[in-house]
Amino acid sequence: MLITENFINDQRAFFKKEDTLFCKTKKERSMYWEKYSHDEIKRSIFDALKQNGSYDNQTILGLPGTYLDREAFYDDAPFLKDAPFLSALIANPNHIGCHTLSPADSLDVFKGTQSIEIDLIKLCAEEIFAGEKDEQDGYVAPGGTEANIQAQWIYRNYFMKEHNATIDQIALVYSEDSHYSMPKGANLLNLQSIVLSVDENTRTISQSDFENKITVAQKNGVKYFIVVLNLSTTMFGSVDEISPVVNYFKINNIPFKLHIDAAFGGFIYPFTNPNSEFTFRNADITSFTIDGHKMLQSPYGTGIFLIRKGYMKYVCTDEAQYVPGKDYTLCGSRSGANAISVWMILRIHGSSGWKVKMLGLVDKTSRLCSKLNELKIEYFRNPYVNIVAIKSKHVPKKIAEKYHLVADSYEHEPKWYKIVMMPHVKQGAIDSLLNDLATFAG
Ligand SMILES: Cc1ncc(COP(=O)(O)O)c(C=O)c1O
Repeated sequence: MLITENFINDQRAFFKKEDTLFCKTKKERSMYWEKYSHDEIKRSIFDALKQNGSYDNQTILGLPGTYLDREAFYDDAPFLKDAPFLSALIANPNHIGCHTLSPADSLDVFKGTQSIEIDLIKLCAEEIFAGEKDEQDGYVAPGGTEANIQAQWIYRNYFMKEHNATIDQIALVYSEDSHYSMPKGANLLNLQSIVLSVDENTRTISQSDFENKITVAQKNGVKYFIVVLNLSTTMFGSVDEISPVVNYFKINNIPFKLHIDAAFGGFIYPFTNPNSEFTFRNADITSFTIDGHKMLQSPYGTGIFLIRKGYMKYVCTDEAQYVPGKDYTLCGSRSGANAISVWMILRIHGSSGWKVKMLGLVDKTSRLCSKLNELKIEYFRNPYVNIVAIKSKHVPKKIAEKYHLVADSYEHEPKWYKIVMMPHVKQGAIDSLLNDLATFAG
C-alpha cells in the first residue's frame, strides 16, 4: 500500500483524538506530541546541524570551540550518516545561554540545534506540565542538581530585588527526604535551610513540624520562603502534597516561591497519574526540575530546568558580554547534543508510546508489591512511581549486596533498601530476589 502524506496525517489526527478521549475526568487533561519515525528524526537533526555554522565549511575564527578531536572521533565513519545524535556530538554545538528567552539574541552559529532545544523545552513545559503556549522558559542543564540550584538562585535574587530582602530574611524549605542538592544550593547561596520532618512510614511532611519551624523562623526574622517540594524523592519515590504547605503560606500572607523537584518523577508521574496536580496550571508552582538521564534513559548531562516567563532575568549575568544574548544559567557552555538526545527519545516514542512504557513499569512495580504483601514484608511505595523502599529488617546485608539494592545511608545502619524498577530490571531478577527474601523471612 502506498503510504501517502494524507494517510499519515489522518493517523496522527486519530491518535491525538484518542489521547484526548483517554481523559476520563474533568481534571484529567490531554497531553500530546507526535511520534516521529527514525527517518523523520534523522531529517530534523541533520537539517538542524546544516543550519548551524560548520567549523569545516565556514570561516569561524572567533569561537574558542571546535569539532571533537578528529584522531579520536573521525567524522567520515560510514555509520554516522544514520546516527544523528553521534553526528551532533562530533559537530559539538555549544548551547551556552537560554534560548527560549529571545532566540534572535542567541549565538548565531548554533541556531539550528538551539531550535531543537527550544522545541524540547516547549514540549516538556506545555505538554508534560500543561503550561500555556510560549509562557515558559528553560534549558537543558548538566543535571537535576544544577536545575534545583538554578531555582534557588532565581528566587533568592527575586526576593532581594523585588522585596529588598536581606540574605538572612530568606530561607530554603524542604523535607528531610529531599535530595542533597537542597543543602548544597543553600550552602552555595548562603541561604539558611529549614528541613521538615516526615512520617517514618508514610513519608509525608509533618504539618505540625512545618508550621512550628516556619513560626520559629519568622520570630528569628525570616520573611521570605523558597519552598521545594518533591515529585518523587530519591530514596522512597514519595510525592509531597502541595496544598497543606501552600495553603499555610497563603492563609498567613507569607511570601513564598515554590519549586518542584521532579528530577526523578517528572518523566513518569504525569503519565501514570492522569490527575496529577504538578502542572503549570497550578498557579502556586513557578518552576520544575526534570531529569532526562533518569527515567528517560538519555545520556548524563540532561537535567532540564523549566520556569514561568519573567523569572530568568533575576540571574542574568550582565558581565557575559561576549555571549550574544548573555548567560542566564549556572553552567555556561553546554553541549547541544544533550538537548538533541532528549528530543529524539521523546519524539521516537510520541506521547502515547511514552505513556504505555511508563504504565508498564508501574505495573511491574505493583506486581512486586503484591508479592511483598504476600510475604508480609513492609515497604513504602507511591502507586504512580516505580520505586519500592523495603524496611531493612527484611533484607540481610548479603541480599542487599547481591542485588545491588541501595541503602538510605552508608554512614549509619540502613533503615531502608530501595529497588528502582528501571527498564533493565528483568522479572527473573525480581523473582530471584523475592525467593531470597522469602527464604530469609522463613
Ligand atoms: C529527586 C532528585 N533530585 C535531584 C537529583 C540530582 O540529580 P543529578 O544527579 O542529575 O544532579 C536526584 C538524583 O538522584 C534526585 O533523585
